[in-house]
Amino acid sequence: MSQGKVTVLHGPNLNLLGTRQPEIYGYETLEDVNNTLREIAVLSGWEINCFQSNHEGALIDAIHTARVDGTSAIIINPAAYTHTSVAILDALNAFEGKVIEVHISNVHKRESFRHHSYVSLRADGVIAGLGTYGYQAALNSLISESAT
Ligand code: DQA
Repeated sequence: MSQGKVTVLHGPNLNLLGTRQPEIYGYETLEDVNNTLREIAVLSGWEINCFQSNHEGALIDAIHTARVDGTSAIIINPAAYTHTSVAILDALNAFEGKVIEVHISNVHKRESFRHHSYVSLRADGVIAGLGTYGYQAALNSLISESAT
């Protein structure tokens, strides 16, 4: 039996991580990020599924799957959908586990349209500006919380 099951969702353009505006998002690729998360999860006996899509509906479908497949937590970087998507918020509201929102950059230090997040209305925790380490921080917090 696994300790917990986490779904990690990456929104649009995050497939370009490592080459996309590296001065903002760094040089690690999405595969690097996911591999590090997989290592952390395995060491703690957690099951992990990582998924990226450039399509809002595909992310919503992944949240729907997480509702019914025993997933205990979702770590999500909705990318630009953070600031636009009531539909992703609604899907997350239908998910009963923990939700942690991650942003690689500090969205509050950037353009004002990035200051508002629909997903934050649902998120149990929000991490921004820690680079790709933010994903690890999110996963470690879920693991340590479940151990207490
Ligand atoms: C982002 C911030 C968003 O504003 C942007 O649209 C992204 C990435 C981040 O991780 O810092 O694509 O979510």
